[in-house]
Amino acid sequence: MDQGLFITFEGIEASGKSTQAEALARHFGDRALLTREPGGTPLGRRVREILLDSTTTPIPDVEALLFLADRAQHLDEVIRPALAERRIVISDRYQDSSLAYQSVGRGVGDLIPSVFRHIGGLTPDLTILIDLDVEVALERLRQRGASNRLDAEAPAFHEKVRRAFLELAKAEPCRFEVFDGAVDVKTLSGRIAARVKERFGDLA
Ligand code: TYD
Repeated sequence: MDQGLFITFEGIEASGKSTQAEALARHFGDRALLTREPGGTPLGRRVREILLDSTTTPIPDVEALLFLADRAQHLDEVIRPALAERRIVISDRYQDSSLAYQSVGRGVGDLIPSVFRHIGGLTPDLTILIDLDVEVALERLRQRGASNRLDAEAPAFHEKVRRAFLELAKAEPCRFEVFDGAVDVKTLSGRIAARVKERFGDLA
């Protein structure tokens, strides 16, 4: 393998993407670097606290800029160096989350792509979108009990975000693979690993 691979997982809350990102990272063993947004760096973990704290409400532009600040630091400190070492970088959320939640969900529009260009954002080699019905996702969240500031948004917000993810996938069918998040964890991880193998062959 003469370069790394950059794979991102996306989806609404409780779609199961964190579990699946972990499973794919285990599948690759030492070559994988599992990371996440927000919070993939020490600075990012402090930004994450602000973003998810239910007692503070940043205005939409500030929320977007904080996610982008986290991403800029993450790219510089974690993602680019690991790809330079030919690792397989697996990120639990990345730019498509900002496009779905902030550009569409909050209506901040072009702010996200324009700052992403400014920071020299990398496009993932593959984005795995785990799609799930909002009602099912909200029921899973209720059962988990814990909720952060974004989890607590109204169902209509989550519907908007779900539709935005599906639109992003439709616009870039080569980069995205969409999976049904309603199937059981093992079946889904098997499907994802098989698809990654098909796409990247010996690389993966
Ligand atoms: P987290 O606890 O990591 O949730 P999840 O397990 O669903 O990923 O919280 C991250 C939250 O931040 C989640 O609600 C999605 C949101 N988010 C954005 O709104 N924009 C972004 O760019 C990113 C990376 C996350």
